[in-house]
Amino acid sequence: MAITNEYRTRSGAVALRSFKAKGRPSAIAGMGVYAPENIITNFDLEKMMDTSDKWITERTGIHKRHIAAPGTTTFEVATKAARAALDAAGITAADLDMILVGTSSPDGPFPSVACRVQNELGASGAVAWDTLAACTSFVYGLSIADAYIATERADTVLVIGAEVLSRMLNYTNRGTAVIFGDGAGAAVLRPAPTGGGFKSWCLGSDGRGYAQVTCGNIEKGAYAAKDATPFIDMVGPDVFKFAVDIFIRQANEVCNTAGVALEDIDLWVPHQANFRIIDAAARRIGLPLDRVAINIDEYGNTSSASIPLALEEAIRKGRVKSGDHVLLAGFGSGLTWGACLMTWV
Ligand code: ACO
Repeated sequence: MAITNEYRTRSGAVALRSFKAKGRPSAIAGMGVYAPENIITNFDLEKMMDTSDKWITERTGIHKRHIAAPGTTTFEVATKAARAALDAAGITAADLDMILVGTSSPDGPFPSVACRVQNELGASGAVAWDTLAACTSFVYGLSIADAYIATERADTVLVIGAEVLSRMLNYTNRGTAVIFGDGAGAAVLRPAPTGGGFKSWCLGSDGRGYAQVTCGNIEKGAYAAKDATPFIDMVGPDVFKFAVDIFIRQANEVCNTAGVALEDIDLWVPHQANFRIIDAAARRIGLPLDRVAINIDEYGNTSSASIPLALEEAIRKGRVKSGDHVLLAGFGSGLTWGACLMTWV
């Protein structure tokens, strides 16, 4: 199949937009992650609702998920990943010019999670804000960081994806309760050494698909009903088709834009939403699974935390070496999508 740069929905076609990295290149200088200790397995869920380990494993690839203790805040899990990332990059909070937190589960409408992280770290010289693009938030955050470093308006940026999604799960809805988990991942971006860093980007949104993944009563506002918990809801099969399609097209886009052949991708780090989505897209992109980072079995879908959790694990396991072409790709509610290709330093 020839891969075009257009994907089609029931509402019509959308042309993907991609661009080459310009200006001063940026690269990931260090990463850190955090996952809550408490684990809920598929067998635990069997006792809580009408589901089975067999169904969850076969339909999603998920075996367990980390679930935060009641009362845990998103800024707490974000801060733990942030501290680990600063250590890995060999910098201190005083070096930070900017803190960007991607999250689908902020602790409230305001203050931002990023400002709470800034306060915890004591990063008083940084500007801090949240980016909300659901599961695509981490890639959107990376793109902002890259743009600021490229234009020399920042030298050191901390990008975090952090979630406590479990407090937005309705444990009587087996269609969503088995899918999601909690966790956080963080990356420090700095100017790249010669030849390395981000090469190309593909970012997009299609608001016509706003109703496909939602949280709370979106027509009246999630906070319209006093004290009502906004729960995650989605049209699973529609999102599934969108996800496979957009993964394939954005891989093609960022590779074309960077002048790198699809078969020369050394590691693809996709958003971990469903093993079957990743597998179907990898086959059509032509990538063997030993060049794909997959840890959905351990974490479930952690929304904006899933890409940094999978990338950090791949780094820790020695799967990424200098000069490798690494592709990150996300999609999520909005609808939104985002991918980037980098040369690992
Ligand atoms: N256990 C047992 N049976 C279940 C469960 C469960 N946990 N959940 C659903 N079923 C049943 C359904 O009731 C249905 O039964 P029926 O045929 O008797 O009506 C059957 O299984 C099939 O249901 P589908 O929803 O069609 O199942 P599907 O194979 O599509 O899998 C899933 C559902 C896993 C949600 C899949 O559609 C998916 O992964 N979609 C993509 C979701 C996604 O990527 N979301 C990312 C965005 S998240 C964000 O942005 C925050």
